[in-house]
Amino acid sequence: MNLILMGLPGAGKGTQAEKIVEKYNIPHISTGDMFRQAVKDETELGLKAKSFMDKGELVPDDVTIGIVRERLSKDDCSNGFLLDGFPRTVHQAESLEQILTDLNKKIDYCINIQVDKEILMKRLTGRRICKSCGATYHLVFNPPAQDNMCDKCGGELYQRADDNAETVENRLEVNIKQQQPLLDFYQGKGYLVTIDGDQPIDQVFDNIDAYLRKLK
Ligand code: AP5
Ligand code: ZN
Repeated sequence: MNLILMGLPGAGKGTQAEKIVEKYNIPHISTGDMFRQAVKDETELGLKAKSFMDKGELVPDDVTIGIVRERLSKDDCSNGFLLDGFPRTVHQAESLEQILTDLNKKIDYCINIQVDKEILMKRLTGRRICKSCGATYHLVFNPPAQDNMCDKCGGELYQRADDNAETVENRLEVNIKQQQPLLDFYQGKGYLVTIDGDQPIDQVFDNIDAYLRKLK
């Protein structure tokens, strides 16, 4: 299955992606994760991306499209993939169409997780992530059993650099601007699915999974 997971910052893309890739065993391709890894490794890509991420701006399309093309060309995408956080602009969406045509692939669903802005602010500022395995928690909505420790691997939890209130505000604004044209684009393609993301995490997953089971 070839999937796109879409939604504003904090909508639950990463949280749901963890569950989808575990059940269906397809690679999780998160442009945000790829950029964060590049920043950590201090690569040329990381240096370029960091200045945009720190401000909550989008990394320029040419950079982002290039890394997605490269990633989708790898062998492990031959039986499916989950794109998380890409595309984010209509230009990225159009480029993805070209990439998929070149690779002889097509999207099954573009899943849009819908959540109101006021809720997103709370979700992002309370998010914590495991340093070792990347699992996502929330101080209030999805707390770990023990303070500051990952339930899955015992790793230490940290707060993302762009999850401070000021950057979150700008990230939301920047992404809201891009959202509607992108939804219109995928509505036009006929495979857009909208899921109410303001429900318990497992309920959101069940609603997504109801569509994915149809593909099996
Ligand atoms: P990226 O890492 O993709 O960040 P984002 O889009 O801002 O999304 P998030 O990862 O913040 O949110 P999420 O939807 O995954 O939410 P999560 O599941 O963690 O991108 C980072 C940056 O990289 C961008 O700002 C940009 O600079 C750059 N970038 C990336 N892709 C790009 C692209 N295509 N083009 C250009 N630039 C790009 O959940 C959030 C919190 O809520 C967690 O604490 C979680 O536990 C909690 N939660 C989740 N679901 C629920 C629920 N149902 N109920 C209650 N709490 C919940
Ligand atoms: Zn962990």
